[in-house]
Amino acid sequence: MISTGKISAAIVGVTGYEGAGAARILAQHPNFQITEVVSRSLQGSALSSALPSLASSDAGKLIICEDIQDSEIVFLAVPHGPAADLASRYRAQGRSVIDISADFRFRNPQEYERWYGRPHPAPELLPQAVYGLPEWFRQEIHKTKLTANPGCFPTGAILALAPIWRGHLIEEDIIVNSLTGISGAGRSPTLRAHFVEDAESVTAYAVNGHRHLPEMEGTLQQIAPKYSAPKITFVPHLVPMNRGILTTCYATLRDSATLADAKNALQQAYAAEPFVVLTDTPPETGWARGSNMCFIYCAVQPGSRRLIIISAIDNLMKGGAGQAVQNANIMYQLPETAGLEFVGVWP
Ligand SMILES: NC(=O)c1ccc[n+]([C@@H]2O[C@H](COP(=O)([O-])OP(=O)(O)OC[C@H]3O[C@@H](n4cnc5c(N)ncnc54)[C@H](OP(=O)(O)O)[C@@H]3O)[C@@H](O)[C@H]2O)c1
Repeated sequence: MISTGKISAAIVGVTGYEGAGAARILAQHPNFQITEVVSRSLQGSALSSALPSLASSDAGKLIICEDIQDSEIVFLAVPHGPAADLASRYRAQGRSVIDISADFRFRNPQEYERWYGRPHPAPELLPQAVYGLPEWFRQEIHKTKLTANPGCFPTGAILALAPIWRGHLIEEDIIVNSLTGISGAGRSPTLRAHFVEDAESVTAYAVNGHRHLPEMEGTLQQIAPKYSAPKITFVPHLVPMNRGILTTCYATLRDSATLADAKNALQQAYAAEPFVVLTDTPPETGWARGSNMCFIYCAVQPGSRRLIIISAIDNLMKGGAGQAVQNANIMYQLPETAGLEFVGVWP
């Protein structure tokens, strides 16, 4: 391999949606070079035959391999469970790891067991893991070698709620209603992801408790530990689109708090953030498609104390691979926007 002076990066699970998303960004990154790509099913194939959209890039010439030999940073884009085992191995080899799965998002292994139905595969690594939501945990991400990339729904919900929650402007009882594209379920074919089942039809799912609910509550509590815990009702909905998450949060304004206070809290939190934009009209998932942006809007209806906060992200970008690269930039003290400066694809 010709040395480019760039930081060597590997992607494990490169044939999945998040792995492919990471490959697209890193193939054009000014500071990282993809040096190894891993999948179990397509070993020996050129990456461009698995992901033809990379045919014109040098990364497309890489041969998919069984394991990593010499990359400095590893992006894990595999299911939870296997991700923790791989993270253990790669951390023991001294590599930096960004895990896009759920395995290191909870600090408490009992909470993981409760929501993921099995004991945590690598509890000894939890103390070194940092929750990778840059807008709120940048300093910690900067110091870690194991970043837990947030879940896609929590990213949209926490970015919308955190400034207002931290400002103590809303009551504990919060409703989070999210609409997601079908790529959120990953690439493996299932009946639920079948075109005929999804097209022209919308459904709620996991109504009796989605795994991202405790991630939202726990992170808000971590952001404002002096307040009592938020009580979130979270209902995700599957809508017939490829990618994107629209999240609408409903919360009651506390005491004398106003819409202006909420807007001010959002403005103060995000004025300097490159990937968060506050909008004057309700955002659309189409605005964020293919970019690392999060659009946030808030409003109150006449005569109501109910604050409505809406966010739009791309689940495969700010909700996944884009945020993973943003975290890698922070871990390596690069400009946070490096490799992520492209705008969305619209329409
Ligand atoms: N999709 C989203 O919107 C989204 C958002 C945020 C986070 N995530 C998380 O990101 C991870 C990847 O999601 P995805 O949507 O990209 O899934 P996906 O499309 O199903 O891809 C999964 C990838 O992992 C590999 N894989 C599957 N089982 C494996 C195992 N037991 N051991 C090692 N590799 C395995 C697959 O390739 P081979 O079978 O060829 O090895 C494939 O490349 C998941 O943990 C998911 O929860 C997804």
